Amino acid sequence: MKVQIASNVFLRDKYLLLEFCAPAGFAMPEPGQFLHMRIEDSFDPLLRRPLSIHDAVWQAHSKNGRKKHVVRILYEVVGKGTALLAEKRPLTQIDVLGPLGRGFDLKKIGRSRCVYIVAGGMGVAPLFFLARRLREGRKENARGPKIVVFIGARNKDHIIREKEFKDLGCEIHVATEDGSKGFKGRVTDLLKTILPPATDGAVSADGQEGAPVICACGPKAMLAAVAALAQQRGLAAQVSLEEFMGCGLGACLGCVIRTVSGYRRICHDGPVFDAEEIIWGD
Ligand SMILES: Cc1cc2nc3c(=O)[nH]c(=O)nc-3n(C[C@H](O)[C@H](O)[C@H](O)COP(=O)(O)OP(=O)(O)OC[C@H]3O[C@@H](n4cnc5c(N)ncnc54)[C@H](O)[C@@H]3O)c2cc1C
Ligand code: FES
Repeated sequence: MKVQIASNVFLRDKYLLLEFCAPAGFAMPEPGQFLHMRIEDSFDPLLRRPLSIHDAVWQAHSKNGRKKHVVRILYEVVGKGTALLAEKRPLTQIDVLGPLGRGFDLKKIGRSRCVYIVAGGMGVAPLFFLARRLREGRKENARGPKIVVFIGARNKDHIIREKEFKDLGCEIHVATEDGSKGFKGRVTDLLKTILPPATDGAVSADGQEGAPVICACGPKAMLAAVAALAQQRGLAAQVSLEEFMGCGLGACLGCVIRTVSGYRRICHDGPVFDAEEIIWGD
């Protein structure tokens, strides 16, 4: 499906926010889903690039007041594909597949009284959409779950969307590896200090009414540490995995991961999985 870029602007350094109005037939995405984007019509780069839905909102049109469905993608320029995407100007058409994949399980998360969101690097991209949905999904006059956000990055220049999470009413904790902002060290070390202690042994809290839940996205090593911590504290965790992708549709088996129920395709069965499903070794 072709979408027309409405804006594509640098937020800072190598981070951009791309926005388009969803055309007819574009399904309302769920947090954790992604788009598979063909950056150029030519064969270079040949493969599509997967990018998460960062936000999707209904907005009134400035001229006629009609509601339009605006979709946002937050991305970092890391290589050829994202560098070419950063050059795209408004009104350019771009081919996207999606929304694809299985996102966060909002039913389970929505039952929690406290949601711990853990973002490493670009992990903030899908998790912001999750936080917004949790805020919007609460019933009128209900407080909804408390949302505590942990953002981890190399240094302060790589901490993004902190203000936007704050504006949603989330409690924020920041960790940088060099200590230039917030806690000095890994975001999972910070998480350790704030998560509630295990109650009665490491019993999964999955499905337990009101029990806190962790939702995380970031590098695999960080997700493995989150999974281990969740197990120690007896908390349920949902993690969004990133992997190189070919088809994005479950056909090429280019993105498989080992789970307790065999190999699963990240693009089709995920990218979000229950942490306890994943076999975290190599
Ligand atoms: C489901 C999913 C959702 C994603 N969402 C986002 C998002 O919202 N925002 C965002 O900025 N990025 C996201 N990514 C990562 C993004 O797809 C890659 O950064 C992008 O494809 C790189 O393309 P490139 O041509 O610029 O880089 P390339 O030239 O292909 O690679 C440049 C560098 O990036 C590394 N890299 C490339 N792709 C990946 C990958 N999939 N996982 C880990 N490292 C990679 C390579 O090892 C290399 O070092 C997501 C990935 C997945 C699988
Ligand atoms: S990318 Fe082809 S099966 Fe996942």
